[in-house]
Amino acid sequence: MENPFEKVEKLLAEIIAESPKTLEEVEQFRIKYIGSKGIVKGIFGAIKTVENQRKKEYGQLVNKVKTTAEEKVESLKMAFSKAEKKINIEDLTAPAYTQEIGTRHPINLVKNEILDIFKRIGFTVEEGPEIEDDWHNFTALNLPENHPARDMQDTFYVDFEKDILLRTHTSSAQIRVMQNQEPPIRIITPGRVFRNETISARAHCTFHQVEGLFIAEKVSFADLKQTLYYFAKEMFGSENIRMRPSYFPFTEPSAEIDVACFICDQKGCAVCKQAGWVEIGGCGMVDPNVLENCNIDSEKYTGFAFGMGIERITMLKYGINDLRLFFENDKRFLAQF
Ligand code: PHE
Repeated sequence: MENPFEKVEKLLAEIIAESPKTLEEVEQFRIKYIGSKGIVKGIFGAIKTVENQRKKEYGQLVNKVKTTAEEKVESLKMAFSKAEKKINIEDLTAPAYTQEIGTRHPINLVKNEILDIFKRIGFTVEEGPEIEDDWHNFTALNLPENHPARDMQDTFYVDFEKDILLRTHTSSAQIRVMQNQEPPIRIITPGRVFRNETISARAHCTFHQVEGLFIAEKVSFADLKQTLYYFAKEMFGSENIRMRPSYFPFTEPSAEIDVACFICDQKGCAVCKQAGWVEIGGCGMVDPNVLENCNIDSEKYTGFAFGMGIERITMLKYGINDLRLFFENDKRFLAQF
């Protein structure tokens, strides 16, 4: 009887030698060798007749045959379909190819929606640099050097000696505006931010924020609450949000903003991690120290600020439970929005 190894070697040579000439012949080739009833399948079965110590080697060899055939099918298919398309282009009566039209990235869609909501109540959009200095990102925001709260945002330093870093929030852009404008100030600052975090379904080393700032005379926490209620109503169709007391060095008092998970109707699901609520950001009354750092009279003016993660809101809005999808640029994912 023929040695099974020789048989496989022969088959490999045969596959390499075959030369299908049309797409149809490629399909026949595929069915003959790697179809569900193809020769390769049969030859896999012959592993029974191989002695135990050589079974592994045999399996590897058959796999090689299989991938050789698969690669041949793929590359020939590609070559022939290109060639056939070319022929069609010369046939002026053939139907035209449809243009593939790109779609907006879901993060941009939601960002624009958020901006529109705030623009309707008088906020204007301001942007700042992604590469920042320590003063705008931390010190001016009431986070002096060695302040423990700096650890809340693991920072990527571009130049540690010169205190140049990738901004960890867009609050830095708000500092720039406060330095250059007189109150009343009513701005939103969208943009990309960076934090040195391990990438997972719920965290990434880069994400997007929209932060808001309102400074004028007699601005109160009630104004902040009403602004967030208005936002939730416009964005999610419901005012069902809650504020949990929290801490940020640049606001006092501070709160965390949660939105009722409407994906599961607060019954608990993967997006809200069974909690019924999804945290979308933080907020609070601007600390007088921050105003003074920007030469704004904190006796005369008060203000509120808030910051939200666009990815979080997008995940909630579309029921997406893995943050990484936003950064992979898989067209099958992106085309759904
Ligand atoms: N800057 C904060 C962050 O990125 C969010 C925030 C903004 C909190 C404004 C309070 C007020 O985590």
